[in-house]
Amino acid sequence: MARTWSPSSWQSFEAQQQPDWPDEAALERALKQVASYPPLVFAGEARSLLTSLGHVAAGNAFLLQAGDCAESFDEFSAVNIREKLRVILQMAVVLTYSLGVPVVKVGRIAGQFAKPRSSSFERIGNEDLPSFRGHIVNSPTPTMAARVPDPDRIVQAYNQSASTLNLLRAFTKGGFADLTRVHQWTQEFITSSNEGERYEQLANEIDRALRFMRACGIDTESTSALHEVDVYTSHEALIIGYEQALTRQDSLTGGWYDCSAHMLWIGERTRQLDGAHIEFLRGVGNPLGCKIGPEASPEFVLELCEALNPARIPGRLTLISRMGANKVEDSLRPLLRAARDAGHPVVWICDPMHANTFTAPGGRKTRHFDDICTEIAGFVRAHHAEQSWPGGIHIELTGDNVTECLGGADDILDTQLDDRYETVCDPRLNGRQSLDLAFRVAELMRTAGVV
Ligand code: PEP
Ligand code: CO
Repeated sequence: MARTWSPSSWQSFEAQQQPDWPDEAALERALKQVASYPPLVFAGEARSLLTSLGHVAAGNAFLLQAGDCAESFDEFSAVNIREKLRVILQMAVVLTYSLGVPVVKVGRIAGQFAKPRSSSFERIGNEDLPSFRGHIVNSPTPTMAARVPDPDRIVQAYNQSASTLNLLRAFTKGGFADLTRVHQWTQEFITSSNEGERYEQLANEIDRALRFMRACGIDTESTSALHEVDVYTSHEALIIGYEQALTRQDSLTGGWYDCSAHMLWIGERTRQLDGAHIEFLRGVGNPLGCKIGPEASPEFVLELCEALNPARIPGRLTLISRMGANKVEDSLRPLLRAARDAGHPVVWICDPMHANTFTAPGGRKTRHFDDICTEIAGFVRAHHAEQSWPGGIHIELTGDNVTECLGGADDILDTQLDDRYETVCDPRLNGRQSLDLAFRVAELMRTAGVV
């Protein structure tokens, strides 16, 4: 695209899914305040992630992108952040050990506050209320007043993101993620289970491998890769005003970076080629993602690749397919072929959550663990058939023992959904289901012969 770009050039394009802020002046004040605050991440970190994702694009690493559907202002605590990190680290260890390639870890965390909605209104009782659009916009409380978009929430979202990121950095660099602690990452409710036992076995094998390395004279103490990990942050770049406020020019390269997170993605509802979201993100240097639903055509995918990655930089663009368990194999193959034939270095990952959502008889939105596995299996088969690398998974999860998704080792039934249904948006895998899924993914990849 030859058109000039600036952090505000998106404003002359149509932006879907933006809140109806009632008070323009208050919105301007909030955005100005955030624009005056320090960036949350640095451009150099975004470039490191880009390099790692380049290895995924080349088939030499695997991407695990995981976290809440929507972070909550009410569930903001050290324990909540630690438990989410813990399950991500456990999954990553299982995948690294089983696949034998590095696992790039990217959280849906420290900024995942904005939600697109299929409908602007939601019927509650006999009232039509404006939909909940994420804590950065309004409150899920079902009253008219609580649903009015409030710009002060933008500042609060920035502050919560900063604290969350601070703790993540402390945990990942300060000893919590040390590989010698791999046993201690298991939570009590997981230890007693089948996947807990499998995890313990794997942790024992890692201990033995570390002892072996030491016996061979390798100084494991001073090898920082064994004691620290990189966990990157990401969220859907939905509220473009907020993203613009955190977009800064890198003093080293002169390039623009959206410093609200390391990686930003465009959702299924906002990926219009002539829309504001693509216009905004094409100009920032961060690694980008875009959701790809079952209606996407090969032509669309190629135009998207040209718009977001015209220089064909490996790792720049991750396409996150979310097709549905029964559609993925047929829908994905033509897209894989098109990108490959055009020479676009796409990181392909599978979101097995968003096209497998349904309403249980009791009225709860849910997903079945088996559908999630089926979609990943179809994704892996499609890649195997097209000789392309199934580069990763994109999962909604929590470390907690919630009952939001059906099935899994505990075989959660629809009658149990009310027990601990705590999400503010979509249903998430709980700690056990997430760990189980990591083992399943490794098995699927090995059975399909891709590793
Ligand atoms: C999400 O990731 O929470 C989401 C809304 O996904 P999608 O855009 O794929 O529907
Ligand atoms: Co979601």
